[in-house]
Amino acid sequence: MTQDELKQKVAEAALHYVKDVSIVGVGTGSTVKHFINYLADLKGQIEGAVSSSETTTEHLKKVGIPVLDLNAVGPLDVYVDGADEVSPHNHLIKGGGGALTREKIIAAASKQFVCIVDESKIVDTLGAFALPVEIIPMARSYVARELVKLGGQPVWREDFVTDNHNIILDVHNLSILDPIELEKIINNITGVVANGLFAMRPADIILIGGGAEVITR
Ligand code: 5RP
Repeated sequence: MTQDELKQKVAEAALHYVKDVSIVGVGTGSTVKHFINYLADLKGQIEGAVSSSETTTEHLKKVGIPVLDLNAVGPLDVYVDGADEVSPHNHLIKGGGGALTREKIIAAASKQFVCIVDESKIVDTLGAFALPVEIIPMARSYVARELVKLGGQPVWREDFVTDNHNIILDVHNLSILDPIELEKIINNITGVVANGLFAMRPADIILIGGGAEVITR
């Protein structure tokens, strides 16, 4: 199977977790694109979805799923999203698509976070994938210097603006031995909006697409 076929398979498996759910939180990325296509088959059964990005909003609307404001709904029963890396403790690196802040907000507001990945995303230690950090534009150089002090090599994702009108620094070569602590430290740098470590609020369930079957962890 190709990587995209694995993504499609794992996206289909996530439908099991949205049965009997009226409002679904929906992430961003190529794996989630498949999920939205499957979710479209349930559109008569769900009230709508809360979207984590403009791209996801556009796709949801295209397939006829109403997009709801998170402020207008209560806590969500389930949030489905992909990831760039998944650790043995279900800690994640996310934000390859630049939607990390809204993704983090929806994950925090959801009772269950179902993460859908192909097997290439499973790692022993987080950090081979450069950690995305969303930053207020005027803080770029200051935050970059602080990230260097933490041992990272920040690279400005040029020609990219987030849905919140901010910028992204992708931080290479971080040693992420304690993801919860590092998430807090980076959050505390003035000018940082959010970082792509999802460790304080990890995924509850990981669905892994690999070979013949989808593994649930
Ligand atoms: C977007 C994300 C995505 O979930 C992550 O980049 C994985 O994407 P894909 O499903 O395309 O591999 O965090 O901000």
